[in-house]
This record gives sequence, C-alpha cells and structure tokens, in this order.
Amino acid sequence: MKIFAIETSCDETGIALVETTSQKSEVSIKVLSDSLLSQAMLHAEYGGVYPTLAKREHAKNLVPLTLEVLKKAKMLTQAETPEVPREIIGEIKEQLEREPELFVQMAMLLAQTKKPDIDTIAVTRGPGLEPALWVGVNFAKALSLAWGIPVVPINHMEGHVAAALATGSEGEYEIAPPKLPALALLISGGHTELVLINDWLKYEKIGSTRDDAVGEAFDKSARLLGLPYPGGPEISKLARAARDESLEQPYSLPRPMIDTDNLDFSFSGLKTAVRNMVQEIGDPTDEQKKQVARELEDAIAEVLVAKTKRAIDEYGIQTLIVSGGVSANTHIRSELEKVVQEYEDTKLFFPTPKLATDNGLMIAFAAAMNNSRDLSVQLDELTASGNLSLSSR
Ligand code: KG4
Ligand code: ZN
Repeated sequence: MKIFAIETSCDETGIALVETTSQKSEVSIKVLSDSLLSQAMLHAEYGGVYPTLAKREHAKNLVPLTLEVLKKAKMLTQAETPEVPREIIGEIKEQLEREPELFVQMAMLLAQTKKPDIDTIAVTRGPGLEPALWVGVNFAKALSLAWGIPVVPINHMEGHVAAALATGSEGEYEIAPPKLPALALLISGGHTELVLINDWLKYEKIGSTRDDAVGEAFDKSARLLGLPYPGGPEISKLARAARDESLEQPYSLPRPMIDTDNLDFSFSGLKTAVRNMVQEIGDPTDEQKKQVARELEDAIAEVLVAKTKRAIDEYGIQTLIVSGGVSANTHIRSELEKVVQEYEDTKLFFPTPKLATDNGLMIAFAAAMNNSRDLSVQLDELTASGNLSLSSR
C-alpha cells in the first residue's frame, strides 16, 4: 500500500511517500521519498511560532513539496490532457476557498500531471496550531477529490510514537507492537505528556504539564539568554560545552513538582526563575550562559527522569517510548537510558534525531502502524482539531 502523508501542525511543512507491506501486526515501510521545509528561521524574529505566518507558509509550500516528493519517487508523469473533470476542480476550488493561492498551484499541478499510483492520504488532524492544521487538512481533502482516494486523519502525537517505534534505517523501517504495558514520554514544543499504552494502539494520558511544555521552557529560557529560536538545540549546545569544560555550577534552578505524588509537570516556573537569574547576573558572559544552560538542562532532565520512573513503577512498564522534538536532546536521552538500565526487562525506543522533530514521515508511519484498521473518514466529517488528545485520536 502506498501512503502519501502530510504534516502541517506547527512550523514544519512535511510531505512523505511510503510503501508498506504488513504481516500480521508487523509492518514494513519503505520510504519512497520525503521532504521537509522548516519555517523556524522565519519565526525566529517573533521568538516563537507565529500562527498566521505558519498557515501562509504551509499554503505556499505544500504543492512545491508534493511535486518534489512525487518527482523523487519517480511518480510524476506529465498528462497530455487534464485528467481531473471540471466539476471536481470546482469542488476543489470550494474546498480551498480560504487558500486561493494553494488552489491556483494545485489546479496547475492537476492540469499537468497524471494521478500517481497512491492508495491513501494520511494527514495530521491535530493537536497543533489550528490555522496551520486546517491548511494540511484542506489540502488532503482536495487531493482526495482529485485522486479519488481516501483520507486517513492522524493524531500528531501518535506520529511521534510511531517515529520512535520505527526501527531500521536507509529508508527501510519496521514497526512491531512493543511489549505492553508501554509508556510514551512525549516531549515537544507544544506537549509534555506521559501516555500509557495498555492495549496496542489505545492510549491513556496519565500525566501532563499544567502550564508550559518542556520545549517551551527551553525556547523561552533561550530567548532570555539572547539565543535564537528554536532554543532547545542552542541550550543543549551550551550545556554540553559547560560539561566538557568542567565549568563550576554556581547557579541553581528549581526542579518543579519533582516530588509531588502524581505524574504531572509544571515548567512555567523554570522560565521565571531563569528570567530572575538573568536579571540578577545583568549581562551574562558566554561562560555564564553556558552555566545557566547546563543548570536548566539538568533541572529539566531530572524532572523528566523522576516522573518517568514513577510511572514505570506504578504501571509495571515493559517498554518506554520517548519522542517529540525535545527527545533529540542528547543529555535527556542518556539520562533516560540510565533509567531503563535499572529495569531489566524494560526496553527503550527513541526516534533517530532527524525523526524526533516534526516531519512528514512520522505521519506516514502512524498511518502504517494502524494498517489493521480502517481509519478513513468521509471528507465532510474531517476537521482539524488544535486540542485533539491522543486517546480520542
Ligand atoms: O516535536 P517538535 O518538532 O514540534 C512540536 O510538535 O512542538 O518539537 C519542537 C521543540 C522545540 O521546543 C525545540 O526547542 C525542541 O523541540 N528541541 C530541543 C532539541 N531539539 C529540538 N530541545 C532540547 N534539546 C534539543 N536538542
Ligand atoms: Zn511535534
């Protein structure tokens, strides 16, 4: 089965094309091609993602990325005469009423190319920035009308889970159901969640942040230190330098909620503490920035480790899945690796760093992982949902 996947939940426009074959509950995935366009540089001047800009950029980039992906997969064939009937083009125009620029690009694509040999379209339905999600969803609907194939809505967080569970490389991956119960620690710019998987493909949120997401703590603190967006990788670089140079640790930040008797998190206090610290320092030197960055990374890692351990103990977890943009952080990875070593039977899954942050492949992987079920929906029932939770798909 060939799946064309679309991701537009935040500031990355991702498109991927994969071919899957399944044997019982295991699925093999061959990447035919994938493409990713990050808008991070554009959002940098706002110090975070600016939703209207994100929406506009997705609308501008979806067709060029689609062309690139089809071309790389050798599935782009010129049409002598337009294949899509006029009335369908009319329906597509209606579908893309709010994205006139996208419609013009799409009409050109459809007039000049043949329908590719694709079976399903998978698209991120949520959670994320609603205006950004809608562009992807409307594009998926329009392609579905044009190509006469179904659309499968995907939960972005399930995409992160799938990205971690995918083993392999060089464009050939496999996903098999892990030993259950499994626990997913999902850490990104928008989310910080502990999700219990007692039954395969069923999710129950057992802990989450009460305020900022962990990625936000990195991004906002980085901004206070005068570092560019996204701040996570910048903080991580400075923290590593502080460790490599064995700098003293003169600063101390709180470990919010580390000892509370639950699986929830709170990160907004950390950002405030960093703000106070920076104010007290005045104009931090490069060395002081490294020291603050290290303390921040340590504080975050310790909280994540403590809550993950608590959940592993409480639920007898056999598999730990760590995913989302922040899972690209090498210090957090190695601290979680140490945790798992304490539990003989527990296996750990991380995505490769490239698959940790948002991308189109993870959406294709989530669709592939669900291949035993028919998730396709009627086009008029398909909506974007900014607050979609994992348990409700
Ligand atoms: O999953 P993602 O790409 O987008 C969301 O769904 O939010 O995550 C982006 C977040 C940003 O906050 C970014 O700063 C953070 O992941 N991030 C990192 C690292 N790489 C990305 N945080 C810490 N260390 C990193 N190496
Ligand atoms: Zn994400």
